[in-house]
Amino acid sequence: MIILVTGAGGPTGEAVSGYFRKHGHTVIDVGRQDVDLLDRAAVQDLAGRVEREHGRVDGVVHLVGGWRGSGSFAETSLDDWDLLHDLLIRTLQHVSLAFEPLLRRSEDGRFVIVSAKAAQAPSAGGAAYAAAKAAAEAWTLSLADALKGTGGAATILVVKALVNDAMREASPEARFSGFTDVNELAAVIGGLFDRPAAEINGTRLDLTS
Ligand SMILES: NC(=O)c1ccc[n+]([C@@H]2O[C@H](COP(=O)([O-])OP(=O)(O)OC[C@H]3O[C@@H](n4cnc5c(N)ncnc54)[C@H](OP(=O)(O)O)[C@@H]3O)[C@@H](O)[C@H]2O)c1
Repeated sequence: MIILVTGAGGPTGEAVSGYFRKHGHTVIDVGRQDVDLLDRAAVQDLAGRVEREHGRVDGVVHLVGGWRGSGSFAETSLDDWDLLHDLLIRTLQHVSLAFEPLLRRSEDGRFVIVSAKAAQAPSAGGAAYAAAKAAAEAWTLSLADALKGTGGAATILVVKALVNDAMREASPEARFSGFTDVNELAAVIGGLFDRPAAEINGTRLDLTS
């Protein structure tokens, strides 16, 4: 399969890209040094290159993240909202708009975002983050509606937080209770290709339960 991983620069990207490479797939990693996902024309160019080289894309895993919060609701910074809007919503818009036509060319394309429990249960100081994740979820559900009946699926994975080996090494005493390991996340994403599209399209899969 041809798998595009956007926001691939960090440990989560490494785990997801590594998983698909290990299983023999072609992975196109997109980190900030490759393409600025806030630059719509650059993302569109990337889609054009993938189309010319491969003709389709079988999986898009969008991993750009970021978090900001405040001590109370009243202290919420709208600068934080602007930042989170760019990171969590605008990059998703650029990637999904550019790659939806290529996903349709796959027999069973999969589009995946990783959302947070906070989107459904916002805390007082987490308004900007929760609202941005909720918007990203709604955007992804709209993509799911677009893919209905094509064999493709867009799916939201919900975590409390992610953990990787570097975090465990930095805090050996921490329990990371309720966190999802990035390798487990990668395996869940891989498993989406084994499930019928109709079963997972437009769904929120809660990895914390
Ligand atoms: N970490 C958590 O606990 C947690 C909790 C809930 C949900 N999630 C979600 O899970 C996913 C992965 O999380 P994560 O913590 O691994 O994400 P992350 O490290 O915050 O972001 C992933 C990568 O996105 C890149 N990126 C940011 N802006 C970009 C741009 N304009 N163009 C290209 N790349 C850009 C970053 O590159 P730079 O390093 O160069 O900035 C970073 O390497 C995200 O969608 C996140 O919202 C994570």
